[in-house]
Amino acid sequence: MQITEKNFGNGYQLITIKNEAGFQLSVTDLGARIVSLGREKNLVLGFDSAQEYLEKDVFIGASIGRTAGRIENGRFTLDGESYHVTTDSTTGHSLHGGQPGFETKKWHYTIENGDDEASVIFTTVSPDNEHGFPGNLSVEVRHTLTKENTWRITTKGLSDRTTLFNPTNHVYFNLTGDVTQSVAQHKLWLDSPAFAPLRQDSIPTGRKVKTSGTAFDFQKTKTLADVFTSDFEQKNLVNGIDHPFFLTENNLVAPAAKLTSPDDTIELVVSTDLPCIVIFTANFGEAALEMHGKPLADHGGITFETQIAPGAEQFSDFGSIKLAANEPFETITNYQIHLKEVKNHGNQS
Ligand code: GAL
Repeated sequence: MQITEKNFGNGYQLITIKNEAGFQLSVTDLGARIVSLGREKNLVLGFDSAQEYLEKDVFIGASIGRTAGRIENGRFTLDGESYHVTTDSTTGHSLHGGQPGFETKKWHYTIENGDDEASVIFTTVSPDNEHGFPGNLSVEVRHTLTKENTWRITTKGLSDRTTLFNPTNHVYFNLTGDVTQSVAQHKLWLDSPAFAPLRQDSIPTGRKVKTSGTAFDFQKTKTLADVFTSDFEQKNLVNGIDHPFFLTENNLVAPAAKLTSPDDTIELVVSTDLPCIVIFTANFGEAALEMHGKPLADHGGITFETQIAPGAEQFSDFGSIKLAANEPFETITNYQIHLKEVKNHGNQS
């Protein structure tokens, strides 16, 4: 595999892995983040410099932690002790473990190269009491590109005190490669019979609701436009999707999600050992951000944030995000890209 490193500005580096098929993955030590993925087209949202992330949106493509999603009022109890972690001044809730979080840390990195795959291994330590969380927490996020065009993330954690840990990656896909196009015409299949409805302030209600019979049922493939144009109250609440979806299979073999480009030439298959995916359809409104010198469309991307469902610290039904002292944590998610031949229907040039 071919690996190059270049200056990404502000003291950060951009590392690119290219396989024999010419398919590339670029990552940066600013937030152990994915910046681009693809061959002819870049299939994920990303900016052109570290500075742009710091100015415009620190979460796009980043490693998120310690706890992805929202913790109500930043409060939880762990082994009988109450904790209060950093909250967002506008909402009063904690988002993504409090800012600045993993997404703006400068991670240390090493590179591993092989015939079949290559990896960039990022490490950092979140010190005891950072944002109010207990324990010195060592984190490793390994981004791998394989010769089969799979981007794999392996995340490890180890804390010296019992703590909460629920990391994810905040990648947004747009398989058209054009940030001015919304993902509405993408087709989505999701192995999810239930989702977590939200309150007005985006905190999960704690219920698990069947997707069948709702606009959030992707057990049969359909376009995202079907959701965006629906009158489903949970969609109206956030102007799209910004919800946890519970998976039936989380074994890294069975696909959890499949996303297909509008022209059917590119397919993304997500598999994970985690029980939930938070899907966020970049509900930023029209031209909220400029990316590569162009206006990012409303619904200009879709995330597959594999994790334990946010809210697990108060709803045991969602699983557990407790990490016991000195017990190693490890999770894997695969994002496999299939590039297909363009179908010739006789009317294409
Ligand atoms: C998502 C979250 C959204 C938004 C986004 C960051 O994970 O669910 O509501 O905060 O992160 O822009």
